[in-house]
Amino acid sequence: MTHERETISGARGLDRDEPLSFEQDSPGRSGVDLPAVPDAPDRLGDLRRKDAIGLPGLAEPQVVRHFVRLSRMNYAIDYGLYPLGSCTMKHNPRLNERLARLPGIGDVHPMQPQSTTQGVLRLMSELAHWLTELTGMATVAMTPGAGAQGEMCGMMAIRAAHEARGEPRKRVLVPESAHGTNPATAAICGYEVDTIPATADGRVDMAAFEAKLGPDVAGLMLTNPNTCGLFERDIIRIAELIHGVGGYFYCDGANFNAIVGKVRPGDLGIDAMHINLHKTFSTPHGGGGPGSGPVVLSEALAPYAPLPKVVQRNGVYELVEQEDGPRVGRMKGFHGQFGMFVRALAYMQSHGRDGLKQVAEDAVLNANYVMAKLQDVLPPAYPGPCMHEVLVSDKGLDGTGVETMDLAKALIDEGYHPMTVYFPLIVHGAMLIEPTETETRQTLDDFIAVMRGLVGQAKAGEAEYFKEAPTMTPRRRLDETLAARKPVLRWVPEAPLADAAE
Ligand SMILES: Cc1ncc(COP(=O)(O)O)c(C=O)c1O
Repeated sequence: MTHERETISGARGLDRDEPLSFEQDSPGRSGVDLPAVPDAPDRLGDLRRKDAIGLPGLAEPQVVRHFVRLSRMNYAIDYGLYPLGSCTMKHNPRLNERLARLPGIGDVHPMQPQSTTQGVLRLMSELAHWLTELTGMATVAMTPGAGAQGEMCGMMAIRAAHEARGEPRKRVLVPESAHGTNPATAAICGYEVDTIPATADGRVDMAAFEAKLGPDVAGLMLTNPNTCGLFERDIIRIAELIHGVGGYFYCDGANFNAIVGKVRPGDLGIDAMHINLHKTFSTPHGGGGPGSGPVVLSEALAPYAPLPKVVQRNGVYELVEQEDGPRVGRMKGFHGQFGMFVRALAYMQSHGRDGLKQVAEDAVLNANYVMAKLQDVLPPAYPGPCMHEVLVSDKGLDGTGVETMDLAKALIDEGYHPMTVYFPLIVHGAMLIEPTETETRQTLDDFIAVMRGLVGQAKAGEAEYFKEAPTMTPRRRLDETLAARKPVLRWVPEAPLADAAE
């Protein structure tokens, strides 16, 4: 028997599409009945809105179902392996979440008197201590709200240091294997970006680097481990050379997960480095929470660190918000992503120093395991061993008619979030796979079997299958160029909406 009934989405069963809340609008419907507030008009005076603001009319269960349905269309680290290279999608321990929600922590307000927030100030101070200890640096600016903002903070400190010396400089050197945010940051800070090519083994070309050094070079922005998943072996020499021309060494430390507890960046000669708490220290990200990108600074750059900072005087913690000196200005309102600080510190303390070292070792081991098990079908772009992520090119798909994007889309139908694709740009058809240390061997074996199966299918002449993928998702293949260049981010009503509660 066939059913021709109209459904809300046009789809059947649990694979339903979900209209926007505005498209489900029933004018006049409301989820809650609030009593009228008699004196509100008086208190608001002229500020009172006269027009409806156009909220959709929905009952409470409709709202709950709307968001639950949307969440079921999403992929999450709590759902399955999320091998998105350069993103370190590791498990977020539930202990951290529990601590972040403790009433004295979750309910604290940034404008409370400091006498009532001694515990949270101590927590910030302890996290700052761990960060400077693990990196071997002099100080840390805690407020940047993400890795990219941390980069900006570090580069502003470098610019301020040159200005203080009375020698503003114009060029910043950025290797090809650096993360895309590095040249963007240098440019946004007003520098000319000068690119250093990579060698055939995916690292900084030292001869090209030396040739570019000069008295107008403000610094170098290097990602280490780099976006090819490789450790820059010449890093100490690189630091000496950049310092030799009076420049500063910025290191993108977003990939710190691969070396935490093993190497202290300060010992390598680095002057500034951001740390993505939302990667290395397991705070939720990718739709699950805000980022946090504290920047550690060397003695040379410490005087330029932005405020606020927490200090301890006579056993009392104090948040210093103003102080004379050449510091760069505030990076963010209040004190940074405090909820993420709690989670990161919980992660550090529950692992301990030796546990963090184990994290780095296991992250590198897992990536190398994947590389070893795939290399005969998807050869690594550069000879291994790799660090925390493995970079493969599309060579393994040569002659099949299947491209990197097709393989990534087919992986979705197998129940996995795809790896990062077409990044870094220096490798043709790049696929960057970062399993992280929190995956079991069984999970990795399952993923490897799926990848090998897909490559086998491609080689067996089933290109058509890949071109259709994904077929088991609420949305089929999107036009990614259009989505990136002309994103439709806002719903515009055909006619003005009446407020439900009006
Ligand atoms: C190597 C690297 N640098 C910088 C960033 C930027 O960090 P964010 O996305 O927090 O701004 C990322 C992002 O994950 C990264 O992988």
